[in-house]
Amino acid sequence: MTLPIPSPPGLPLLGHATLFDPDFPMSSLHKLVQEYGNGEIVSIRLPGGKEVVVIGSQELLHEVNDDERFKKRIQDGLQEMRPAMGDSLLTAEVPGENNWYIAHRVLASSFSAIGLRGFFDDMSEISSQLALKWERFGSHTEIDLLADFTALTFEVISLCSMSYRMNIFYHGGKHPFADAVASYSAEAFRRMHRPGLVNALMFSANAQFTLDTAMMQECVESILQERKAHPTETRDALYAMMHDTDPVTGQRMSELSIKQNIITLLMAGFETTASFLTFVFYHLLHHPTAMRKLCTEIDSTLAGRPLAPDDLGKLPYLIAVMRETLRLTPTSPGRLVEPVADTTLGGRYAVRRGTPVLVSTYMGHRDTRVWGDDVEVFRPERMLDGQFEALPPDSWQPFGVGLRACIGRAFAWQEAQVTLVKLLQRFTFALVDPDAGPCIRQTFTLNPRGVRVRAFPRAGREEAGA
Ligand code: HEM
Repeated sequence: MTLPIPSPPGLPLLGHATLFDPDFPMSSLHKLVQEYGNGEIVSIRLPGGKEVVVIGSQELLHEVNDDERFKKRIQDGLQEMRPAMGDSLLTAEVPGENNWYIAHRVLASSFSAIGLRGFFDDMSEISSQLALKWERFGSHTEIDLLADFTALTFEVISLCSMSYRMNIFYHGGKHPFADAVASYSAEAFRRMHRPGLVNALMFSANAQFTLDTAMMQECVESILQERKAHPTETRDALYAMMHDTDPVTGQRMSELSIKQNIITLLMAGFETTASFLTFVFYHLLHHPTAMRKLCTEIDSTLAGRPLAPDDLGKLPYLIAVMRETLRLTPTSPGRLVEPVADTTLGGRYAVRRGTPVLVSTYMGHRDTRVWGDDVEVFRPERMLDGQFEALPPDSWQPFGVGLRACIGRAFAWQEAQVTLVKLLQRFTFALVDPDAGPCIRQTFTLNPRGVRVRAFPRAGREEAGA
């Protein structure tokens, strides 16, 4: 026998919309799931009557990690991105759109552990550029971490995926391609929340969206033409897309698919990682003991020399800090799936085929049955000494799971290690306002706004001597 999915009281036309904090809807949903759904499930009605099932327990998150029963739902915000990104990795309907399979298999090697070694030096160089900027600006300058990490992640993904230097640090934090990607992503998110009629009337926003689309397409076109005119042997992602064949079908990616996937890699690769790096600093600066332990580990393991590819994974406390940061503040806080046929969740809740199911990583990472009562506390130690490996399956899933899991996971993991080690070897940090919490804004990602720091060069570790 099935049970009705618990649902909070709502309003006739607006459904449950009035119950959400528009800046951080996932935290409101978390409270509703705690209050009405035993920390595991609620059903929410949106204005217009659409139902969304929200799940937040490890048990249910594990259950929907089944590509036979559930598929990724291309949510409205991703649909809005299809004019520029078409059936690329992030936005494709699978099964159905074959270009996804070809692109996924072609790009898998670039983003595998072996492919990533080739990106190490580029990542290291860009993090040096940031360190140099902070040294030159001096410790009296306030640093907006999210802004600088956004510049860094754009530069890194652009250089590694297509050997294209935006040189953002030399252009006052700006580049037309990066600006267009960021502005396009922000507008796609806003469009998702406006009724269609209102969207149609947003003349200036629509004009900007069209301009951003054109700017991204022009930039990609010129990068592609430049590469054709001057071929290179550099094994970046663009090389793979232009020359490699799909090992299963023997097909090549079409030119359109290459262009759409370049935009996709930039779109998917900057904000999640920039917010992640900012949250790492935020947590460490509020937990001086963790900061001390981490710096001691880095100093004693590397003895002042730069991180090398063979050191990756040899800094267990750093990995614990990164895992704990993505547990407590998963920058991609949820994703949508839908059952491919009528089904029952948890053996008791009937869910009809095609119903959107919001898989909340944010809540799964706060499931007290898995993580204990101190889920809101930043405690990297919970990830050490085999405890992470002993977790129940799918307890920790900041990069998604299954067929549509993040293809850039290992890339982001390497980029974060390279960046964090470089910056912590060079500087000590202090929050400008230690009493201010980050203002968390939820767009496609969780963004920590307003984390401002000062960076103090460590003696003998200036750029020239490092
Ligand atoms: C901390 C950093 C990152 C986090 C937390 C993250 C998280 C995620 C998550 C949760 C998904 C699944 C989304 C869904 O199912 O709807 C995803 C997909 C994806 N990510 Fe990431 N990501 C990160 C960095 C990156 C980077 C650096 C790249 C590019 C190199 C990237 C490229 C992608 C792509 C292309 C997809 C779509 C995969 C597909 O559906 O085939 N991500 N990411």
